[in-house]
Amino acid sequence: MDTQTQKVMFSSKSNEWETPQDLFDKLNKEYNFTLDPCATDANTTCSKHYTVEDNGLSKSWANERVFINPPYSEIGSWVKKASEEYLHNGAVIVMLIPARTDTKYWHDYIMKYASTIYFIKGRLKFKNKVIADYTGKADVSPAPFPSVIVIFDMGLGLTWSGGPSVKSMARE
Ligand SMILES: C[S@@+](CC[C@H](N)C(=O)[O-])C[C@H]1O[C@@H](n2cnc3c(N)ncnc32)[C@H](O)[C@@H]1O
Repeated sequence: MDTQTQKVMFSSKSNEWETPQDLFDKLNKEYNFTLDPCATDANTTCSKHYTVEDNGLSKSWANERVFINPPYSEIGSWVKKASEEYLHNGAVIVMLIPARTDTKYWHDYIMKYASTIYFIKGRLKFKNKVIADYTGKADVSPAPFPSVIVIFDMGLGLTWSGGPSVKSMARE
C-alpha cells in the first residue's frame, strides 16, 4: 500500500468508519431499520444491504426504513438521494453524518426537507475493520468532527415547511 493510500485510510477521509453499535441499537429500537444502502458484507448494520459493487445510490429505497452512515468521500450525493427517496418513494431515512453546516448539501437538502436534526453531545468513537485488519489491532478513534443524526420521516416531512426541528442526543 502506498503512502497516500495509507494516509487516507487512517484519516477522516476513509469511507470505512463504522457506526458505533450502541448508537445504532438506540436508533434501531425506534426505527427498526430494513436497509443499509452503503456497507460491506462485513460492516453492514442490516441484513438487507448494498455494497460499493451494487452501488446503493443507483437502487430504489422505496418504502424502506433506511439507516445511512455514508462514505465520507461522497456525503452530498447520499444526502441528495436520501431526500429524493423520502420525498418521492415513501422511505423513512436516518443518517449519521458530520455536522458540516456550511456545505451546499446541508442547506439544499437537510434544511429544506429533513424533519429533525439531532446534534450529538460529545465526540463519537468509530471503529474501522479495514484498519483493524491492516494493523491487527481493533482500535477505536474519536472523530475529529462533531456528528449529527438527520431524520427524513414521512410523518412530518411533506407538510413541514418551517425547517427541521433541532434537538440534542446523547452518544449512547
Ligand atoms: C461509513 S461506512 C458505513 C459502514 C456501515 N454501514 C455502518 O453504518 O457502520 C460507508 C460504507 O459505504 C460503502 N460504500 C461506498 N460507496 C458505496 C456505494 N456507492 N454503494 C454502496 N456502498 C458504498 C463503503 O465500502 C463503506 O463500507
